[in-house]
Amino acid sequence: MAKKDIDWSNLGFGYIKTDYRYVSYFKDGKWDEGAIITDDKIQMSECAGVLQYSQNCFEGLKAYETKDGDIVTFRPDLNAERLQQSAARLEMPILPVEQFIDGVKKVVAANADFVPPYGTGATLYLRPFMFGSNPVIGVKPAEEYEFRIFTTPVGPYFKGGAKPIKIKVSDFDRAAPRGTGSIKAGLNYAMSLHAIVTAHKEGFAENLYLDPATRTYIEETGGANILFIDKEGNLVVPKSDSILPSITRRSLVYVAKNYLGLKVEERKVALSELSDFAEMGLCGTAAVISPVGSVNDHGKEILIPSGMEKMGPVLQKLYDTLTGIQMGRIEAPEGWIVKINK
Ligand code: PLP
Ligand code: COI
Repeated sequence: MAKKDIDWSNLGFGYIKTDYRYVSYFKDGKWDEGAIITDDKIQMSECAGVLQYSQNCFEGLKAYETKDGDIVTFRPDLNAERLQQSAARLEMPILPVEQFIDGVKKVVAANADFVPPYGTGATLYLRPFMFGSNPVIGVKPAEEYEFRIFTTPVGPYFKGGAKPIKIKVSDFDRAAPRGTGSIKAGLNYAMSLHAIVTAHKEGFAENLYLDPATRTYIEETGGANILFIDKEGNLVVPKSDSILPSITRRSLVYVAKNYLGLKVEERKVALSELSDFAEMGLCGTAAVISPVGSVNDHGKEILIPSGMEKMGPVLQKLYDTLTGIQMGRIEAPEGWIVKINK
């Protein structure tokens, strides 16, 4: 089959409906075997658990066309495990890892014509998600659930592609101490909408959230973890119980140590340390690595030494190595790349 007629190199991060999606239903205490369907519409009760009490969680991963023309996904087992952690925290049923990976393989194979060609800079984004679907009116977990995966071809998450962005220290918190910051629940993103609209109005691309208990340590942004490179060229990543355990960040820590021979510190990072770093970036499936050029802390602008023109040299090496692994140019660690049978 031929690739779809899409202007791949000019895609932003938006939704384009593709031909197929994966769906599995949970009823009477078990998941069905799952199926590929064409209907993008969902029908459910007006009183569904997801609509009343936001009982939903989701994941994000990508499919890539490699330099040899294969289609692959990157560490889907870790997305499957994180979905299980999110589900457990929200009293939702656990979807087996094998079923998650089976769904990923089937939905990518079915939508192979939407996987952007190698070299265009675009990828196929997968959005697995689960929600409570039966009527729930007293506050309690639903008994029936739907798990779906849809796909959409995407380009860079931030306008301007790899250009450094300006972000601001948010006055809002995205997570509470002992709350749900470490899982991928839709409610965390609903919480961040007013903050992101406010930041955009003020000319910033994202919010930098601080630790909710003391507001002195750096946590993450609305949709990505944070990376720093210190003046000695070491990778420093903020550690906290209320940030999402980013699969990209965990992969980059491994790449930094084992491919690039960098020293890595995973520790609490105080806001007051910001001006000590040489480079700063955001990392995530959607963001990949997006460089940060400046951080505005209530009117005080902290300029990151790598500047507003391009990504700093150490982050660039991390970016090249990670995307090299994902696109088949660099040998991957065992088990990281899962090939799709077209
Ligand atoms: N932090 C938040 C709040 C996110 O939404 C995401 C996106 O998934 C990430 C971090 C990055 O995680 P990952 O690298 O697993 O995509
Ligand atoms: C992802 O990177 O997959 C996310 O879910 C982030 C979201 C803000 C698009």
